[in-house]
Amino acid sequence: MRFTVAIDGPAAAGKGTISKALAVKFGFAYLDTGSLYRATGVKALEVGRGVIDPAVAAQLAGNLSQTDLDRTDLRTDVAGQAASKIAAMPDVRAALLEFQKNYARRDGGAVLDGRDIGTVICPEAEVKIYVTASDEIRAKRRHKELAQAKPELTVAQVLNDLRARDDRDAARDIAPMRPADDALLLDTTELSIEEAVRQAIIAVQAHLK
Ligand code: C5P
Repeated sequence: MRFTVAIDGPAAAGKGTISKALAVKFGFAYLDTGSLYRATGVKALEVGRGVIDPAVAAQLAGNLSQTDLDRTDLRTDVAGQAASKIAAMPDVRAALLEFQKNYARRDGGAVLDGRDIGTVICPEAEVKIYVTASDEIRAKRRHKELAQAKPELTVAQVLNDLRARDDRDAARDIAPMRPADDALLLDTTELSIEEAVRQAIIAVQAHLK
């Protein structure tokens, strides 16, 4: 059975939590596509000693290994910024395209979260959900995650970082972050995790026959 759930939206809106819960509930495979860009970004920074070369980044993207994806530093703010820089490079996106497309249409169902899943990677997805939340709520949530490893980080810094990343992701020429025309909009600003997940489950159930 092929069944794809495409979850898109800005950073820290709740995409990952919702996607993982859907994958468990329906027994689908789950791909966090942001980790592909994060792994490429941190590796490109290392290779270039702080300077990212687009050709090198594209080559790294095409040769990612499981070890690259298992790195424990992928969730940092540095990795997030590096990811959004290399994510605007057409050759990097091209190198990651096929893997994601195949993953989306694998047998048994798949949930993918990212920025362009419903628009570019899998426009034929059976369910598309665009998850958003206010900037302030997203910054507070992300700050809570990041402050454990970096206590000196302020909510204001996280907010700036998120806005810079969202602006770059939405303004780029290739595969910009935007809701697909047929996506369900899910605003989690006022929702508990349980309620957001419940609404997403209902959306999937409506399409599963
Ligand atoms: O989702 P996450 O915050 O881990 O993504 C990190 C960055 O990777 C995003 O800010 C975005 O620039 C890029 N990305 C993308 N397309 C995707 C997933 C992530 O451009 N499908």
